[in-house]
Amino acid sequence: MNDFVFTKVKKAKLISFFIYKYHSNLFRKNVINNSSIKTVFCNKSELLSYLNESEVINLVKELSEKRKKFRKNPKERTNIWNSYRWGAIKLNNGKGLYSLIRKFKPEVLVETGVCNGISSAFILLALHKNKKGKLYSIDFPKIKGVNYENGTFWQDKGGAEIPKGKKPGWVIPENLRDRWTLIHGKSQEELPPLISELKEIDFFLHDSDHSYDCMMFEYEEVFNVLKTKGILASDDIVWNNSFDDFCKKTNKKPYYISPNVGFLIK
Ligand SMILES: C[S@@+](CC[C@H](N)C(=O)[O-])C[C@H]1O[C@@H](n2cnc3c(N)ncnc32)[C@H](O)[C@@H]1O
Repeated sequence: MNDFVFTKVKKAKLISFFIYKYHSNLFRKNVINNSSIKTVFCNKSELLSYLNESEVINLVKELSEKRKKFRKNPKERTNIWNSYRWGAIKLNNGKGLYSLIRKFKPEVLVETGVCNGISSAFILLALHKNKKGKLYSIDFPKIKGVNYENGTFWQDKGGAEIPKGKKPGWVIPENLRDRWTLIHGKSQEELPPLISELKEIDFFLHDSDHSYDCMMFEYEEVFNVLKTKGILASDDIVWNNSFDDFCKKTNKKPYYISPNVGFLIK
């Protein structure tokens, strides 16, 4: 009987491994093949020229190394028994955002949701290469091992946490930090004063509280001050319909870096 159960478990694990491999291959290719990002570039080789820049290839290697150290034990759990994850944007999606910023050269950028800092690192590298632009990031981090009162975070928050003793954005290389301002707090409270101070923005990325209400709130706040031809991008658009609804409401065409990361151009 035990042998039978063991074989079943092994088989199930094997099947999920192949499904995972199949999907990760799709994700590997999707920056170019399975997405609409290429349509905003003059041609495929323009996009490739950004994706193949040595600095971004090196950043991917550096972040992959940091990730291995971050999660030495894949079975590790958070205090609320979620799988302990660094909750980052996929590296290929990061490269997609990098290419967009390299092409459009925005000057004022706002991001919500930093956590360990993977998306911020890609954005800041693009600004460094462009030699222009400033990124303002808002984050309300969850730190591993800390017990938070119920209701501190949004209801469906997963296991994205930063290690104890680290600050949000700790993976961002030192030489990229001069164009970065980090604001601690919830986007619901910190975004309105930030955008009224900045007045106009060129690029926005949502990756904080993925409830419908918060995502819609952030898109609406930002859209009002987004410059014409500015970009509003969002991670985790498959969590709910807010991104699609917002594109319909504003009559803007949605573009996709991957099935999970979308953007519109005002
Ligand atoms: C998915 S992680 C961000 C990952 C990051 N963009 C990256 O690529 O590495 C979400 C982050 O947003 C934070 N957060 C949750 N609710 C928030 C809120 N209302 N306002 C700002 N940040 C929030 C989480 O604690 C976490 O640090």
